[in-house]
Amino acid sequence: MSRILITSALPYANGELHIGHVSSTYIPADTYARFCRLKGHDVVFVGGSDDHGTPISVAAREAGRTPLEHVDYYRERQLNDLKALNISFDNYYRTHSEENREITEHFLLKLRENGYIYQKEVELFYCERDKTYLPDRMIKGTCPYCGAEDQYSDACEVCGRTIEPGEIHRPYCILCGNPPVTRRENHFIFKLSAFSDRLYEWLTSDETGEKFPKDVVNYVVQWIKSGLQDWDITREDYWGFKLPYKDAKENQYVYVWFDAPIGYIASTINWSENKGVDWEDYWKRKDSFITHFIGKDIVYHHFLFWPAVLMGTQEITLPKKYVVNGYLTLEGAKMSKSRNWLIPLNYILKRYPADYVRFYLSFKADNSTRDNNFSWEEFQERINGDLVDNIGNFVHRILHFINNRYDSKVPEPSDFDDFDKEFIQLISSVTDELAEYYEQCDLAKAIKRIIESFKFANSYFSAKEPWKTIKEKPEEAKNTLYLCANFLHSAAIHLNPIIPQFTETLQKYLNVKPDTWDSARKLQLKPGHEIMKAKPIFEKIPEEEVQKEIETLKQQTTQTEKKEEIDINEFNKLDIRIGEIISAKQIQGELIQLTVQIEKNKQTTIVGKLGGSYKPEELEGKKVAVLVNLKPKKIQGIPSEGMLLAAIDEKKISLLAPDKEVKTGSKVK
Ligand code: 2FM
Ligand code: ZN
Repeated sequence: MSRILITSALPYANGELHIGHVSSTYIPADTYARFCRLKGHDVVFVGGSDDHGTPISVAAREAGRTPLEHVDYYRERQLNDLKALNISFDNYYRTHSEENREITEHFLLKLRENGYIYQKEVELFYCERDKTYLPDRMIKGTCPYCGAEDQYSDACEVCGRTIEPGEIHRPYCILCGNPPVTRRENHFIFKLSAFSDRLYEWLTSDETGEKFPKDVVNYVVQWIKSGLQDWDITREDYWGFKLPYKDAKENQYVYVWFDAPIGYIASTINWSENKGVDWEDYWKRKDSFITHFIGKDIVYHHFLFWPAVLMGTQEITLPKKYVVNGYLTLEGAKMSKSRNWLIPLNYILKRYPADYVRFYLSFKADNSTRDNNFSWEEFQERINGDLVDNIGNFVHRILHFINNRYDSKVPEPSDFDDFDKEFIQLISSVTDELAEYYEQCDLAKAIKRIIESFKFANSYFSAKEPWKTIKEKPEEAKNTLYLCANFLHSAAIHLNPIIPQFTETLQKYLNVKPDTWDSARKLQLKPGHEIMKAKPIFEKIPEEEVQKEIETLKQQTTQTEKKEEIDINEFNKLDIRIGEIISAKQIQGELIQLTVQIEKNKQTTIVGKLGGSYKPEELEGKKVAVLVNLKPKKIQGIPSEGMLLAAIDEKKISLLAPDKEVKTGSKVK
């Protein structure tokens, strides 16, 4: 028996979970936890919500809630969805907890004591227009590594690198699009670079890196070789854990990614408190098998930051195994929160049994960073074909036959023929192969092998024709049903990690208790064992329903793309005229102050952010469309009394101008 501590990445309590989250992380982790329990290991499976971080404090402010109210709200919704999906956490906790605060502070003090924290003046982004420091997720710009544009300032979605504060090129504030100014502050920095050699050694040695995915290790090693940047763990905020250092400022908080993985330990401590067990057995003993399940976007944090922190504190055992899955696309396109191109977990679970979702998404979880696709049509095919026709039908054929023809009793076998022996052999060999696939956390291989085994069982049953042999050769029919019933007993165990509800029902019909993994290798049902009256377990998904799902998905995304409709009276409230720019001067950054003639005897002042696209002298003399009845607003202390209309392509601005000569003051309709 091994001691296995399983973690699944903690979701930010800042939105609904969707199918992408569960296929990359929670279903693989839960399946593995269930498998390890069947193998008789001492398993603790922990999760929880990731409550901190500036995106959460920003979102809470926008939603008019306190950050705690905000995370409480989403944490509960996420937890309900995970329960509905039958994710069998031993504990689902949270990072905003006393346990987490305590160890986070302890780690931070210890790291400083050990010489791995130093102070450095860093440049921070501050938006003068919005009067706020701009945390990572409120700034976008160009990735300094691969040149991809419009990337968040802390990570590039294109090349996967994390980006340190200040490194992003051509930054802009996501609230107003203005380039931020910089301010200097003293920050606390974790000396990640000091761990390069140790991390390299740990990732590549046969002994420690053996259970790490090779492709991931290869690119992490490249990151190490190209030089690790030290890690700024300080953020100006009003939410999270305060830095436990006396020389830290009031508004300086711990970076969310520092305390997030410590949340795995906090969840275990919280679990152990009511259990009378020692959490340290799972985190400090060398023989504890710590396994992390993550999506490929958080490799840097889990393969470099986290182990380096553990190496620097020297109290906790290093991870022994990582399972990393790629992204899930939806109907061939990248999922997107802003375009509403996604399927929330609570949506799909309201319409389909959890087992359907788990069954289908298992094909997408292959412990590889390749991306996989969700399609409603394929969902229906897998459920109707593989689950209902192949698996469900076989179950029903066998149970029904035994119910009706053998008075619900497993018949007594006698001499087996070669085909029977082949079937017996299959039961044990499939059990062994599946154990390997589950151990590799390759659910796609596992589910495909199970389907093949049912195909074999179906063809065995059809070829044996027990409905005929029961009269002509009754001994042969008994062998057939005895073996098929035993196959079901094993298959219930094989399928348990993936579709636990189904297997519970099957075990109820078989009138057996859940058994261990190893029992699935053998024929466990004895002749004369009485089974229950069975009913079909699954139902097919009708064709119309799938078409409706596709329609709903398309509609939900076009609705987000389309703005609210207005009537012509609302449009008529806008007084838009053709004005002539009389003079233009640059005032600060990209801001240009304009004097615009909007009627024969009337001029107005407008301040606009045009400097990125126009020089002041290019503007003078231009006739352009101007919204003239906009409420005046002071910009840089200058009252601006209108707005020039322009087309905006990314960050390029092109002013709208009439395409025939018209009088100044002409109305635009
Ligand atoms: O990327 C994310 O969604 C993070 N909330 C994952 C944190 S995993 C762990 F470190 F807590
Ligand atoms: Zn701004």
